Amino acid sequence: GIYNEKFRPQIHFSPPSKWMNDPNGLVYLDGEYHLFYQYNPNGNTWGPMHWGHAISKDLVYWQHLPIALYPDEHGMIFSGSAVYDENNTSGLGTAENPPLVAIFTYHDSEAKKSGEEDVQSQGIAFSTRGRSWTKFSQNPVLSNSGRPDFRDPKVIWVNNKWVMSIAVKDKIQFFSSPNLINWTFESDFNPEWANYEGVWKCPDLFPLTLPSGEEKWILLVSVISGGPQKGSATQYFIGDFDGKTFTTDLSQIRWLDYGADNYAGVTWSNIPDADGRRIFIGWMSNWYYAQKTPTSPWRSAMTLPRELKLIGTDKKFALKSSPIDELNKLRKTSQYKYGSVISLEEPLVELELVPELNDFSISFSNIKGEIVTLNKSGDDLSFDRSNSGKVDFQNGFGAVHHVALEGLDIYQVQIFLDNSSQEIFINGGQVTLTNLLFPNESYDKVTLQGFKDKFTLHYLSSIW
Ligand code: FRU
Repeated sequence: GIYNEKFRPQIHFSPPSKWMNDPNGLVYLDGEYHLFYQYNPNGNTWGPMHWGHAISKDLVYWQHLPIALYPDEHGMIFSGSAVYDENNTSGLGTAENPPLVAIFTYHDSEAKKSGEEDVQSQGIAFSTRGRSWTKFSQNPVLSNSGRPDFRDPKVIWVNNKWVMSIAVKDKIQFFSSPNLINWTFESDFNPEWANYEGVWKCPDLFPLTLPSGEEKWILLVSVISGGPQKGSATQYFIGDFDGKTFTTDLSQIRWLDYGADNYAGVTWSNIPDADGRRIFIGWMSNWYYAQKTPTSPWRSAMTLPRELKLIGTDKKFALKSSPIDELNKLRKTSQYKYGSVISLEEPLVELELVPELNDFSISFSNIKGEIVTLNKSGDDLSFDRSNSGKVDFQNGFGAVHHVALEGLDIYQVQIFLDNSSQEIFINGGQVTLTNLLFPNESYDKVTLQGFKDKFTLHYLSSIW
């Protein structure tokens, strides 16, 4: 299809039409990256949730596929994950054709209406190549037992068993299973000093190796509100996991992204060892205003896919999210530019800049006088979208965002500009700022201050 409506992302995944939120069921198999997503096929706001589906060979170009999971008698299909059950531990495939298994939350809104607490439980479904899915006949596999919120199971294979991380209101719980069907409670994680302003959601637990070779475990936890720019955001913890309990030593709140629009992100499972990357994608929106953004006939997009790397354990900015190398395919033309005011001939761009001074700023503006600015002044990094275009669909969308750099030295700035977003990667992703923008005309002018005179400008091609 030609997805070229006003504000339609051209270098980001978005559904053909209707409402999308969280990425779900991220799994790689036989040359295909699967992306499922929270989807309401009936409208342009949140509603009865399904799993929409798309596949890609490279995480850049996407092919839309039919809806994978529909609500059933247990409820709507909320967020969750998918794994390749290579040893057929579930018995839901065969030794020759091991199954993909999706693990998701059932949300029973009818129960909620009748005042019951018991509204969320976990179900599974299986498939051979991810094209058509069969729900397990004895769903749910993990019932609620009085937990107030009980959702977004993310499953990995650790020490010869399956481990599920799941969000339970204000904590993460870990369960284990030999077969994805029978689950045993292992432990809770809810350190006192973490951010609890919003309900905890969408956990993801995985190991990463430090440059020293030491292995650490990362736990991502999204919060619906209370993020660094007020609304939804994702915090992360660095620690150790022994197959039962996650422990973390440093009491430091850390955010995966300091923009307003990177939430509910998780990573792909079953990436081949020869690749070895930990690849992440987030929902590029914020519950604060997600249902009001001025787009139609679709609503919401995913972030660019990022590779997560751990560069230390003691600093606030310890986890890097770098744009994946495959995104270089989008570069149509690349040129060196000189000067401090340049005009853009096309709307889809990637810029690579090197700061020269300690303080710097970069603005994108258009003929209507709409402008968006990244500014560094001492230890304060700010992002101002107050006059960036359409901002009044929600009070506060136009707020100025701040990041306290805590002495971080900035040596590189990379920016991806799409029709309705800007992603800024600082020092290869040590600090990232992912933000939606709705300019009434494309930004066609860049104004620089405090950067080296020579920088790189790439014009990008559309993925559609
Ligand atoms: C997060 C979330 C999840 C839930 C899904 C419902 O954005 O609230 O916790 O599974 O969205 O669509």
